[in-house]
Amino acid sequence: MLHVRGGTIVTAERTFRADILCGDDGRIAAIAPEIDTPAGCAVVEADGLLVMPGGIDPHTHMEMPFMGTVASEDFYTGTAAALAGGTTSIIDFVIPDAGTSLLEAWKAWRVKAEKAASDYSFHVAVTHWDDQVHRDMGTLVNECGVNSFKHFMAYKNALMVDDDVLLHSIRRAGELGALCTVHAENGDAVAYMQAQMLAEGRTGPDAHPASRPPVVEGEAAQRVIALAGLLDAPVYIVHVSTAEAAHAIADARMRGQRVYGEVLPQHLVFDDSVYSDPDWLTASRYVMSPPFRPKHHQHALWAGLTSGQLQTTATDHCCFCAGQKEKGRTNFTHIPNGVPGIEDRMSILWHHGVATGRLSAEEFVAITSTNTARIFNMLPRKGCIAVGADADLVLWDPQGTRTISARTHHQNVDYNIYEGMTVTGLARRTISAGRLVWDDGDLRATRGAGRYVERPALRPR
Ligand code: URP
Ligand code: ZN
Ligand code: ZN
Ligand code: ZN
Repeated sequence: MLHVRGGTIVTAERTFRADILCGDDGRIAAIAPEIDTPAGCAVVEADGLLVMPGGIDPHTHMEMPFMGTVASEDFYTGTAAALAGGTTSIIDFVIPDAGTSLLEAWKAWRVKAEKAASDYSFHVAVTHWDDQVHRDMGTLVNECGVNSFKHFMAYKNALMVDDDVLLHSIRRAGELGALCTVHAENGDAVAYMQAQMLAEGRTGPDAHPASRPPVVEGEAAQRVIALAGLLDAPVYIVHVSTAEAAHAIADARMRGQRVYGEVLPQHLVFDDSVYSDPDWLTASRYVMSPPFRPKHHQHALWAGLTSGQLQTTATDHCCFCAGQKEKGRTNFTHIPNGVPGIEDRMSILWHHGVATGRLSAEEFVAITSTNTARIFNMLPRKGCIAVGADADLVLWDPQGTRTISARTHHQNVDYNIYEGMTVTGLARRTISAGRLVWDDGDLRATRGAGRYVERPALRPR
């Protein structure tokens, strides 16, 4: 048992003073203004701290095989780093190899994730279409606790799906009460532009954003929204990085379509000037897709979050060390796409969102935890502070400051995109399933303590 004493609770709805008692079953047993500490119960002092639902990161790629290599962060190191930053659950992606069944891939990912230190769940990627995929989607939803599928409209000749696959999958997911999530970039246009760049002798990281300009994302977002509308099904667009995509989502929502959008903190903080760094390795470390954009797009993303037209924040945590980025030294199309960030998501959003007055503390909880739990059907187990909910809590110091660095972070990667930034707002303590796992610099993550979280179907149609 754990008694969280003296804190101020912040949920997506309200802020109030209360103690919390975490039971031995890892759930919240009581919430009251003053709780007498039961005999033998440990106490965690929360005086002066905000007690919020642990963060949920709905977009991570631990040990993901991608672009001829494997992401350096594994399920243990990545979830441990997450706990140090106040994130207590992740939803990672099962990516079936060409020709592998979705179900077999899901089983393989379950084994890889057994070492996780925090709770975890899975989206499963649909990378082709046939009867087996149709059947596997049913099994995954009805028997395996998967209620979301992922589609890449980019990465031609690798993960990309065409509109035909999208239509089949969106229809099938709709029947099952599952949600389709989409990486929206026009993969044909990207491949065409990449070839163009290389033909012009542009081989460095600065050609990366030039080969996938905002219109490439805007077109794909509009297209998948149109296809989902055609089938009267919901759709969730991951890593929205442009005004074009943000507006497409907002417009669709105003027409009554159920469209959701996810924002990554790095897209709120960096612009495309990072690709002009004269040091090749520094520039290549920012290579991810969609790329960082000219500044004015950041305004549209913030506006989407404050208006509620964009609902969630994630990291797309996908780590590649220097030796892996080097694969693209002479050809930017071979730089493994991906950046780290799971440990810093909450601090970056607090610093740039709440401390600047853009977001309230309640809105912060909504975009870091509760909205994700609602959209992906994890409420009331995750994303809220309620009796019976999992005791996943972050004790947040709104005034605490820290300077981010690869020298001190817990992520298993040799750089940090936020290197040298001093941020206000940090996870002072983190509680996962009722256990104190991060105590002001002391990381007590346990390999294998994380549990697989089943997410039931949303609304079968
Ligand atoms: O560059 C990225 N985002 N890498 C991970 C795969 C993806 O597109 O999400
Ligand atoms: Zn067909
Ligand atoms: Zn993506
Ligand atoms: Zn991703």
